Amino acid sequence: MAAKSSPGLEGVVVGETKITHVGGEEGTLHFRGYDASELSEQISYEEVVHLLQKGELPTVSELQELKAAWYPLRPLPPELEQLVGKIPKGSLPMEALRSGISLMGAGLKAFPPRDLDMLPFIARAPTWLAMWYRASRGLPSVPPDTTLGHVSSYLYMLEGRLPDPDLARALEEYFVLLSDHGMNASTFAARVVLSTQSDPASAMSAAVGALKGPLHGGAPSLVLDMLDAVGVPGNAERWIAEAVARKERLMGFGHRVYRTEDPRAKRLKQIAQRYARAERFTLAEAVEKAGLEALRKARPNQPLYTNVEFYAGVVLEAVGIPRELFSATFGIARTAGWAAQLLEQAGNNRIIRPDASYTGPEPRPVPIRSVAPPAAAVPRSA
Ligand code: ACO
Repeated sequence: MAAKSSPGLEGVVVGETKITHVGGEEGTLHFRGYDASELSEQISYEEVVHLLQKGELPTVSELQELKAAWYPLRPLPPELEQLVGKIPKGSLPMEALRSGISLMGAGLKAFPPRDLDMLPFIARAPTWLAMWYRASRGLPSVPPDTTLGHVSSYLYMLEGRLPDPDLARALEEYFVLLSDHGMNASTFAARVVLSTQSDPASAMSAAVGALKGPLHGGAPSLVLDMLDAVGVPGNAERWIAEAVARKERLMGFGHRVYRTEDPRAKRLKQIAQRYARAERFTLAEAVEKAGLEALRKARPNQPLYTNVEFYAGVVLEAVGIPRELFSATFGIARTAGWAAQLLEQAGNNRIIRPDASYTGPEPRPVPIRSVAPPAAAVPRSA
Protein backbone atom coordinates (compact mmCIF):
# COMPACT_ATOMS: atom_id res chain seq x y z
CA MET A 1 0.00 0.00 0.00
CA ALA A 2 1.31 3.47 -0.89
CA ALA A 3 2.40 5.61 2.09
CA LYS A 4 0.16 8.60 2.92
CA SER A 5 1.49 11.77 1.33
CA SER A 6 2.02 15.02 3.19
CA PRO A 7 1.47 18.07 0.97
CA GLY A 8 4.32 20.50 1.45
CA LEU A 9 6.09 17.76 3.49
CA GLU A 10 4.30 19.17 6.55
CA GLY A 11 5.30 17.27 9.66
CA VAL A 12 7.74 15.05 7.75
CA VAL A 13 11.08 14.59 9.50
CA VAL A 14 13.71 14.30 6.77
CA GLY A 15 16.79 13.88 8.91
CA GLU A 16 18.69 14.89 12.02
CA THR A 17 20.53 18.12 12.70
CA LYS A 18 22.68 19.40 15.52
CA ILE A 19 22.62 23.01 14.33
CA THR A 20 19.29 24.72 14.97
CA HIS A 21 16.22 23.85 17.00
CA VAL A 22 12.96 25.56 16.08
CA GLY A 23 10.46 25.15 18.94
CA GLY A 24 7.23 25.59 17.04
CA GLU A 25 4.79 25.09 19.93
CA GLU A 26 6.63 27.20 22.46
CA GLY A 27 7.98 29.83 20.04
CA THR A 28 11.68 29.31 20.66
CA LEU A 29 14.77 29.27 18.46
CA HIS A 30 18.17 27.94 19.49
CA PHE A 31 21.43 27.83 17.58
CA ARG A 32 23.61 24.99 18.94
CA GLY A 33 21.64 25.22 22.19
CA TYR A 34 21.88 29.00 22.63
CA ASP A 35 18.80 31.23 22.47
CA ALA A 36 18.94 33.10 19.16
CA SER A 37 17.54 36.36 20.53
CA GLU A 38 20.09 36.41 23.37
CA LEU A 39 22.83 35.65 20.88
CA SER A 40 21.69 38.46 18.61
CA GLU A 41 22.07 40.94 21.45
CA GLN A 42 25.55 39.76 22.34
CA ILE A 43 27.51 38.37 19.44
CA SER A 44 28.68 39.39 16.00
CA TYR A 45 27.75 37.79 12.71
CA GLU A 46 31.29 36.42 12.44
CA GLU A 47 30.80 34.64 15.77
CA VAL A 48 27.48 33.10 14.72
CA VAL A 49 29.09 31.79 11.52
CA HIS A 50 31.68 30.00 13.68
CA LEU A 51 29.02 28.77 16.11
CA LEU A 52 26.77 27.36 13.39
CA GLN A 53 29.60 25.58 11.61
CA LYS A 54 31.70 24.37 14.53
CA GLY A 55 29.16 23.98 17.30
CA GLU A 56 30.84 26.31 19.80
CA LEU A 57 31.34 30.04 20.12
CA PRO A 58 34.85 31.02 19.01
CA THR A 59 37.58 31.82 21.48
CA VAL A 60 39.33 35.18 21.04
CA SER A 61 42.08 33.61 18.97
CA GLU A 62 39.68 31.50 16.90
CA LEU A 63 37.71 34.65 16.08
CA GLN A 64 40.91 36.45 15.08
CA GLU A 65 41.87 33.53 12.84
CA LEU A 66 38.43 33.48 11.26
CA LYS A 67 38.55 37.20 10.49
CA ALA A 68 42.06 36.87 9.11
CA ALA A 69 40.87 34.20 6.68
CA TRP A 70 37.57 35.94 5.91
CA TYR A 71 38.11 39.69 5.43
CA PRO A 72 40.78 39.44 2.70
CA LEU A 73 38.33 37.31 0.68
CA ARG A 74 35.92 40.25 0.43
CA PRO A 75 37.13 41.77 -2.88
CA LEU A 76 35.79 39.91 -5.89
CA PRO A 77 38.42 38.18 -8.03
CA PRO A 78 38.89 40.33 -11.22
CA GLU A 79 37.21 37.77 -13.49
CA LEU A 80 34.13 37.87 -11.24
CA GLU A 81 34.15 41.63 -10.84
CA GLN A 82 34.02 42.03 -14.64
CA LEU A 83 30.77 40.09 -14.69
CA VAL A 84 28.93 42.38 -12.28
CA GLY A 85 28.00 44.75 -15.11
CA LYS A 86 26.97 41.87 -17.38
CA ILE A 87 23.89 40.85 -15.42
CA PRO A 88 20.94 41.61 -17.73
CA LYS A 89 19.31 45.00 -17.17
CA GLY A 90 16.05 44.77 -15.29
CA SER A 91 17.19 41.76 -13.22
CA LEU A 92 15.86 41.64 -9.69
CA PRO A 93 18.38 41.75 -6.83
CA MET A 94 17.63 38.12 -5.94
CA GLU A 95 18.32 37.16 -9.56
CA ALA A 96 21.61 39.04 -9.44
CA LEU A 97 22.52 37.36 -6.14
CA ARG A 98 21.60 33.92 -7.47
CA SER A 99 23.77 34.44 -10.55
CA GLY A 100 26.66 35.81 -8.48
CA ILE A 101 26.65 32.87 -6.09
CA SER A 102 26.55 30.49 -9.00
CA LEU A 103 29.54 32.21 -10.64
CA MET A 104 31.48 32.13 -7.36
CA GLY A 105 31.58 28.35 -7.60
CA ALA A 106 33.62 28.23 -10.81
CA GLY A 107 36.47 25.78 -10.37
CA LEU A 108 35.62 24.89 -6.79
CA LYS A 109 36.28 21.28 -5.88
CA ALA A 110 32.88 19.69 -5.97
CA PHE A 111 32.28 17.32 -3.07
CA PRO A 112 32.59 17.09 -0.14
CA PRO A 113 32.96 20.82 0.66
CA ARG A 114 35.29 21.87 3.48
CA ASP A 115 34.74 24.74 5.96
CA LEU A 116 37.12 26.95 4.02
CA ASP A 117 35.21 26.37 0.77
CA MET A 118 32.20 28.08 2.35
CA LEU A 119 33.91 31.26 3.46
CA PRO A 120 34.20 32.88 -0.02
CA PHE A 121 30.43 32.66 -0.46
CA ILE A 122 29.76 34.31 2.91
CA ALA A 123 32.48 36.93 2.41
CA ARG A 124 31.75 37.82 -1.21
CA ALA A 125 27.95 37.68 -1.45
CA PRO A 126 27.59 41.21 0.06
CA THR A 127 30.36 42.56 -2.21
CA TRP A 128 28.72 41.14 -5.31
CA LEU A 129 25.28 42.40 -4.30
CA ALA A 130 26.43 45.91 -3.35
CA MET A 131 28.54 46.23 -6.53
CA TRP A 132 25.69 45.03 -8.71
CA TYR A 133 23.21 47.32 -6.96
CA ARG A 134 25.34 50.43 -7.37
CA ALA A 135 26.22 49.55 -10.99
CA SER A 136 22.55 48.96 -11.82
CA ARG A 137 21.82 52.47 -10.60
CA GLY A 138 24.73 54.08 -12.40
CA LEU A 139 26.63 54.73 -9.17
CA PRO A 140 30.41 54.27 -8.88
CA SER A 141 31.35 51.03 -7.14
CA VAL A 142 32.78 51.15 -3.63
CA PRO A 143 35.60 48.63 -3.12
CA PRO A 144 35.28 46.63 0.08
CA ASP A 145 37.12 47.75 3.19
CA THR A 146 38.86 44.68 4.55
CA THR A 147 39.15 46.11 8.06
CA LEU A 148 35.45 46.59 8.83
CA GLY A 149 33.19 43.96 10.39
CA HIS A 150 31.07 41.97 7.95
CA VAL A 151 27.82 43.90 8.40
CA SER A 152 29.41 47.37 8.54
CA SER A 153 31.33 46.49 5.40
CA TYR A 154 28.06 45.61 3.59
CA LEU A 155 26.52 48.95 4.55
CA TYR A 156 29.72 50.75 3.58
CA MET A 157 29.74 49.18 0.11
CA LEU A 158 26.05 49.97 -0.40
CA GLU A 159 26.12 53.56 0.80
CA GLY A 160 29.68 54.63 0.03
CA ARG A 161 30.26 56.00 3.53
CA LEU A 162 31.02 54.56 6.94
CA PRO A 163 27.75 53.49 8.57
CA ASP A 164 26.34 54.82 11.81
CA PRO A 165 27.60 52.27 14.40
CA ASP A 166 24.17 51.92 16.07
CA LEU A 167 22.43 51.23 12.78
CA ALA A 168 25.16 48.79 11.77
CA ARG A 169 24.67 47.01 15.09
CA ALA A 170 20.89 46.88 14.55
CA LEU A 171 21.48 45.28 11.15
CA GLU A 172 23.98 42.88 12.70
CA GLU A 173 21.31 41.72 15.16
CA TYR A 174 19.05 41.06 12.18
CA PHE A 175 21.88 39.11 10.48
CA VAL A 176 22.44 36.95 13.58
CA LEU A 177 18.72 36.30 14.11
CA LEU A 178 18.21 35.29 10.48
CA SER A 179 21.45 33.35 10.08
CA ASP A 180 19.72 29.96 10.22
CA HIS A 181 16.30 28.42 10.72
CA GLY A 182 16.27 24.63 10.61
CA MET A 183 14.82 22.77 7.65
CA ASN A 184 13.19 25.76 5.95
CA ALA A 185 12.48 25.66 2.21
CA SER A 186 15.76 27.25 1.05
CA THR A 187 17.92 25.11 3.35
CA PHE A 188 16.09 21.99 2.26
CA ALA A 189 16.58 22.96 -1.39
CA ALA A 190 20.31 23.45 -0.75
CA ARG A 191 20.61 20.11 1.04
CA VAL A 192 18.75 18.29 -1.75
CA VAL A 193 21.18 19.66 -4.35
CA LEU A 194 24.29 18.90 -2.29
CA SER A 195 23.02 15.42 -1.45
CA THR A 196 23.57 14.41 -5.10
CA GLN A 197 27.28 15.15 -4.42
CA SER A 198 26.89 18.38 -6.35
CA ASP A 199 28.88 21.49 -5.39
CA PRO A 200 28.11 24.20 -2.80
CA ALA A 201 27.58 26.94 -5.41
CA SER A 202 24.84 24.91 -7.07
CA ALA A 203 23.32 24.19 -3.67
CA MET A 204 23.46 27.82 -2.52
CA SER A 205 22.08 29.21 -5.75
CA ALA A 206 19.15 26.79 -5.43
CA ALA A 207 18.68 28.12 -1.91
CA VAL A 208 18.57 31.73 -3.16
CA GLY A 209 15.97 30.66 -5.71
CA ALA A 210 13.81 29.14 -2.99
CA LEU A 211 14.22 32.14 -0.70
CA LYS A 212 13.06 34.51 -3.44
CA GLY A 213 9.38 33.55 -3.25
CA PRO A 214 6.94 35.58 -1.12
CA LEU A 215 5.97 32.51 0.92
CA HIS A 216 9.57 32.41 2.20
CA GLY A 217 12.01 35.35 2.01
CA GLY A 218 10.21 37.58 -0.45
CA ALA A 219 7.72 38.98 2.05
CA PRO A 220 9.38 41.90 3.93
CA SER A 221 9.17 44.44 1.11
CA LEU A 222 5.54 43.35 0.62
CA VAL A 223 4.94 44.06 4.32
CA LEU A 224 6.14 47.63 3.78
CA ASP A 225 3.96 47.91 0.65
CA MET A 226 1.05 46.86 2.87
CA LEU A 227 1.96 49.47 5.52
CA ASP A 228 2.14 52.13 2.80
CA ALA A 229 -1.22 51.06 1.42
CA VAL A 230 -2.80 51.24 4.90
CA GLY A 231 -1.31 54.72 5.31
CA VAL A 232 -2.31 55.65 8.87
CA PRO A 233 -3.11 53.57 11.96
CA GLY A 234 -6.79 54.56 11.82
CA ASN A 235 -7.18 52.74 8.49
CA ALA A 236 -5.63 49.48 9.69
CA GLU A 237 -8.74 47.66 10.89
CA ARG A 238 -10.83 48.38 7.77
CA TRP A 239 -7.96 47.73 5.31
CA ILE A 240 -7.05 44.41 6.93
CA ALA A 241 -10.69 43.29 7.27
CA GLU A 242 -11.21 43.92 3.56
CA ALA A 243 -8.03 42.05 2.61
CA VAL A 244 -9.02 39.06 4.78
CA ALA A 245 -12.55 39.12 3.31
CA ARG A 246 -10.96 38.93 -0.17
CA LYS A 247 -9.06 35.88 1.15
CA GLU A 248 -5.72 37.55 0.54
CA ARG A 249 -2.70 36.35 2.47
CA LEU A 250 -1.45 38.96 4.88
CA MET A 251 2.31 39.26 4.43
CA GLY A 252 4.30 38.78 7.62
CA PHE A 253 1.73 36.49 9.27
CA GLY A 254 1.57 32.71 9.54
CA HIS A 255 4.28 30.08 9.70
CA ARG A 256 4.60 26.40 8.95
CA VAL A 257 6.28 25.56 12.25
CA TYR A 258 5.45 28.26 14.82
CA ARG A 259 2.08 27.83 16.48
CA THR A 260 2.68 31.02 18.40
CA GLU A 261 4.64 34.22 17.84
CA ASP A 262 7.90 33.78 15.95
CA PRO A 263 10.62 34.64 18.51
CA ARG A 264 12.54 36.52 15.83
CA ALA A 265 9.51 38.75 15.27
CA LYS A 266 9.48 39.55 19.00
CA ARG A 267 13.13 40.64 18.98
CA LEU A 268 12.88 42.49 15.67
CA LYS A 269 9.88 44.39 17.03
CA GLN A 270 12.05 45.66 19.90
CA ILE A 271 14.76 46.68 17.44
CA ALA A 272 12.17 48.38 15.21
CA GLN A 273 10.77 50.28 18.18
CA ARG A 274 14.23 51.62 18.91
CA TYR A 275 15.35 52.55 15.39
CA ALA A 276 12.31 53.07 13.15
CA ARG A 277 10.59 56.43 12.83
CA ALA A 278 7.88 56.68 15.52
CA GLU A 279 5.06 57.00 12.93
CA ARG A 280 6.32 53.94 11.04
CA PHE A 281 6.49 51.85 14.20
CA THR A 282 3.04 52.98 15.40
CA LEU A 283 1.56 52.13 12.00
CA ALA A 284 3.26 48.71 11.98
CA GLU A 285 1.93 47.96 15.46
CA ALA A 286 -1.60 48.98 14.45
CA VAL A 287 -1.46 46.76 11.34
CA GLU A 288 -0.04 43.86 13.37
CA LYS A 289 -2.84 44.18 15.93
CA ALA A 290 -5.53 44.43 13.24
CA GLY A 291 -3.99 41.47 11.36
CA LEU A 292 -3.87 39.23 14.43
CA GLU A 293 -7.46 40.06 15.36
CA ALA A 294 -8.81 39.60 11.84
CA LEU A 295 -6.99 36.28 11.35
CA ARG A 296 -8.15 35.04 14.77
CA LYS A 297 -11.76 35.84 13.83
CA ALA A 298 -11.53 34.45 10.30
CA ARG A 299 -9.71 31.27 11.33
CA PRO A 300 -10.31 30.53 15.00
CA ASN A 301 -8.77 27.05 14.68
CA GLN A 302 -5.70 28.09 12.70
CA PRO A 303 -2.95 29.64 14.84
CA LEU A 304 -1.68 32.53 12.70
CA TYR A 305 0.81 34.89 14.34
CA THR A 306 3.31 37.51 13.28
CA ASN A 307 6.31 35.94 11.55
CA VAL A 308 9.91 37.13 11.16
CA GLU A 309 9.19 39.08 7.99
CA PHE A 310 6.73 41.53 9.53
CA TYR A 311 9.18 43.58 11.58
CA ALA A 312 12.17 42.61 9.42
CA GLY A 313 10.93 45.06 6.79
CA VAL A 314 10.56 47.82 9.36
CA VAL A 315 14.08 47.21 10.73
CA LEU A 316 15.69 47.04 7.28
CA GLU A 317 14.01 50.29 6.29
CA ALA A 318 15.17 51.93 9.53
CA VAL A 319 18.80 51.01 8.92
CA GLY A 320 18.61 52.36 5.38
CA ILE A 321 18.52 49.22 3.23
CA PRO A 322 16.69 50.02 -0.03
CA ARG A 323 13.35 48.19 -0.15
CA GLU A 324 14.23 46.27 -3.31
CA LEU A 325 17.24 44.76 -1.49
CA PHE A 326 15.33 43.36 1.49
CA SER A 327 15.12 39.76 0.24
CA ALA A 328 18.69 39.74 -1.04
CA THR A 329 19.88 41.11 2.31
CA PHE A 330 18.04 38.23 3.98
CA GLY A 331 19.87 35.94 1.54
CA ILE A 332 23.31 37.19 2.45
CA ALA A 333 22.49 36.85 6.16
CA ARG A 334 21.33 33.26 5.53
CA THR A 335 24.56 32.23 3.78
CA ALA A 336 25.83 31.42 7.30
CA GLY A 337 23.09 28.86 7.86
CA TRP A 338 23.26 27.40 4.37
CA ALA A 339 27.02 26.93 4.75
CA ALA A 340 26.70 25.15 8.10
CA GLN A 341 23.80 23.01 6.90
CA LEU A 342 25.68 21.98 3.75
CA LEU A 343 28.71 20.96 5.77
CA GLU A 344 26.46 18.91 8.03
CA GLN A 345 24.78 17.33 4.98
CA ALA A 346 28.16 16.46 3.44
CA GLY A 347 29.34 14.95 6.72
CA ASN A 348 26.57 12.35 6.73
CA ASN A 349 25.29 12.31 3.19
CA ARG A 350 22.64 10.20 1.58
CA ILE A 351 20.91 11.35 -1.59
CA ILE A 352 17.57 12.99 -0.74
CA ARG A 353 15.08 11.34 -2.98
CA PRO A 354 11.54 11.23 -1.60
CA ASP A 355 8.61 9.51 -3.23
CA ALA A 356 5.25 10.72 -4.49
CA SER A 357 1.93 8.99 -4.39
CA TYR A 358 0.90 8.42 -8.03
CA THR A 359 -2.65 9.57 -8.85
CA GLY A 360 -2.48 9.53 -12.68
CA PRO A 361 -4.10 7.09 -15.13
CA GLU A 362 -3.70 3.33 -14.83
CA PRO A 363 -1.26 1.78 -17.34
CA ARG A 364 -2.87 1.88 -20.83
CA PRO A 365 -1.87 1.08 -24.42
CA VAL A 366 -0.31 3.79 -26.57
CA PRO A 367 -2.98 4.68 -29.18
CA ILE A 368 -2.27 3.92 -32.85
CA ARG A 369 -1.44 7.31 -34.33
CA SER A 370 -3.24 8.10 -37.60
CA VAL A 371 -0.42 10.40 -38.78
CA ALA A 372 3.00 8.75 -39.39
CA PRO A 373 6.01 10.44 -37.70
CA PRO A 374 7.66 13.01 -40.02
CA ALA A 375 10.31 11.52 -42.31
CA ALA A 376 13.02 13.81 -40.89
CA ALA A 377 12.61 12.05 -37.54
CA VAL A 378 14.08 8.85 -39.09
CA PRO A 379 17.90 8.98 -39.23
CA ARG A 380 19.09 8.92 -42.88
CA SER A 381 21.59 6.16 -42.27
CA ALA A 382 18.96 3.87 -40.71
N1 ACO B 1 -2.91 35.42 5.75
C1 ACO B 1 -4.12 34.85 5.58
N2 ACO B 1 -4.32 33.52 5.66
C2 ACO B 1 -3.25 32.76 5.89
C3 ACO B 1 -1.95 33.29 6.07
C4 ACO B 1 -1.80 34.68 5.99
N3 ACO B 1 -0.61 35.25 6.14
N4 ACO B 1 -1.09 32.28 6.29
C5 ACO B 1 -1.80 31.15 6.23
N5 ACO B 1 -3.10 31.43 6.00
C6 ACO B 1 -4.19 30.48 5.87
C7 ACO B 1 -4.09 29.78 4.52
O1 ACO B 1 -4.85 30.43 3.53
C8 ACO B 1 -4.62 28.41 4.81
O2 ACO B 1 -6.01 28.44 4.75
P1 ACO B 1 -6.83 27.23 4.05
O3 ACO B 1 -6.48 26.03 4.90
O4 ACO B 1 -8.25 27.66 4.15
O5 ACO B 1 -6.32 27.15 2.66
C9 ACO B 1 -4.25 28.17 6.28
O6 ACO B 1 -4.03 29.46 6.86
C10 ACO B 1 -2.98 27.36 6.42
O7 ACO B 1 -2.00 27.98 5.60
P2 ACO B 1 -0.92 27.19 4.77
O8 ACO B 1 -0.56 27.97 3.57
O9 ACO B 1 -1.36 25.77 4.60
O10 ACO B 1 0.27 27.21 5.78
P3 ACO B 1 1.73 26.87 5.38
O11 ACO B 1 2.36 26.32 6.59
O12 ACO B 1 1.75 26.01 4.17
O13 ACO B 1 2.35 28.28 4.97
C11 ACO B 1 3.27 30.45 5.09
C12 ACO B 1 3.12 29.10 5.80
C13 ACO B 1 3.72 30.18 3.66
C14 ACO B 1 4.32 31.27 5.79
C15 ACO B 1 1.91 31.17 5.11
O14 ACO B 1 1.51 31.42 6.44
C16 ACO B 1 1.91 32.48 4.31
O15 ACO B 1 1.66 32.43 3.11
N6 ACO B 1 2.19 33.65 4.95
C17 ACO B 1 2.22 34.92 4.25
C18 ACO B 1 3.56 35.11 3.55
C19 ACO B 1 4.70 35.34 4.52
O16 ACO B 1 4.55 36.00 5.53
N7 ACO B 1 5.87 34.79 4.15
C20 ACO B 1 7.07 34.83 4.99
C21 ACO B 1 7.20 33.56 5.76
S1 ACO B 1 8.51 33.61 6.97
C22 ACO B 1 9.88 32.95 6.19
O17 ACO B 1 9.81 32.07 5.40
C23 ACO B 1 11.19 33.50 6.48
